[in-house]
Amino acid sequence: MRMVDLIIKKRQGHELTDEEIRFWIKGYVDGEIPDYQSSAMQMAIVFQGMNNREIATLTDAMLHSGEVLNLSNIKGVKVDKHSTGGVGDKTSLVLGPMVAACGATLAKMSGRGLGHTGGTLDKLESIPGVTIAISGERFVNQVNDIGCAIVGQTGSLVPADKKMYALRDVTGTVESIPLIASSVMSKKLASGSDVILLDVTVGEGAFMKNVAQARQLAHIMVDIGRRLGRDARAVLSNMSEPLGLAVGNSLEVKEAIAALQGHGPEDLMELCYITGSIMLEQAKVFSSREKARIALEDAVKSGAAFDKFVKMVKAQGGDIEYILHPEKFEMAKEIIPIYADATGYIKSLDALTIGVSSMKLGGGRETLDDVIDMSAGIVLNKKVGDQVKEGDLLATLYTNKPKDIYEPIALDVLHTFQITSEYVEHQKVILEVIE
Ligand code: URA
Repeated sequence: MRMVDLIIKKRQGHELTDEEIRFWIKGYVDGEIPDYQSSAMQMAIVFQGMNNREIATLTDAMLHSGEVLNLSNIKGVKVDKHSTGGVGDKTSLVLGPMVAACGATLAKMSGRGLGHTGGTLDKLESIPGVTIAISGERFVNQVNDIGCAIVGQTGSLVPADKKMYALRDVTGTVESIPLIASSVMSKKLASGSDVILLDVTVGEGAFMKNVAQARQLAHIMVDIGRRLGRDARAVLSNMSEPLGLAVGNSLEVKEAIAALQGHGPEDLMELCYITGSIMLEQAKVFSSREKARIALEDAVKSGAAFDKFVKMVKAQGGDIEYILHPEKFEMAKEIIPIYADATGYIKSLDALTIGVSSMKLGGGRETLDDVIDMSAGIVLNKKVGDQVKEGDLLATLYTNKPKDIYEPIALDVLHTFQITSEYVEHQKVILEVIE
């Protein structure tokens, strides 16, 4: 078999056999197939797509390219969630402790942020002392003791995705349904959970720009999960505006703490309650989503969810004084308020602009080697549908960058708030549930 023939076959729009897909992935991971050929294949897939059988085989080949975790030493049904990425998405930090407080077991491997999207690992690491690199044994013990752990993916898990994702990032081949579905699902399946809840983000701040694309991606991932023996379900969530109010690492941790104490922004809380109740039903902890939602709300009200978060941070080496007294988090030197230049309703607020602006203020990385400023980011004061008067505070920027860098960013942030005199409704956070 020759890789060039497979590339041509896919370029011409033909289906690849299971054997051909496995030949590509194995050859690429073993170093026998070079980056440029894998890259050409990925581009052919971007244009020609893959059918569900091809995507399931690609996922399976990637999943078995490295270690596959065995979580059988963890008691109970293991639940996991994955978001396809967004701006202000601190859901895992809130949802993990919430479902753990209701009796589920969350054994989660998370990723880092890249470009305009944030990553849960970076957010967690903004808490002084927290480690996300823990041994398999410590991971299992922590999940058994506390009910939740959020850690980094071990280097040996799905090496195919690591190599392919790095190539995709620099060859314009990220936005492809077969490639995203296989990337996400190979990692979720390799990390060993029984139940998977996928949050497929939709809108300007996400990889899927419209609902039709997101729905297709969600159906494919749910189907792959089923074919490979897991209970996978998905929600489509709105990422045309950022989730919650805070964007940037320690700013988001502070918002997550407030949410776990019952003072979170409405969209974030609603996303956590809906996804959490689906996960608890999937794990059979509750017989219905209604009962699960009541339990989740009680876990927040009683402080049980916050207590789980404190225990998780402590178990992962973090200084819990920062969780108990969030004002201890270091503040950026420059704090720049942005005021409304008109009166009316916020019509749109582009998540991509806010994500890119936060990254440029120091809150994200443009390349994998960039060092993040944990205190940098943006806190919104208004969201779509809110009423504003000229001169009202729209957002606050936090940065340690000089004025010549933050001034143009402040203008971008101001201009992304579009204000109209006509009434605008608040946006729904969950657009659809796919199961
Ligand atoms: N998240 C992933 O893990 N992979 C993708 O391809 C896109 C989002």
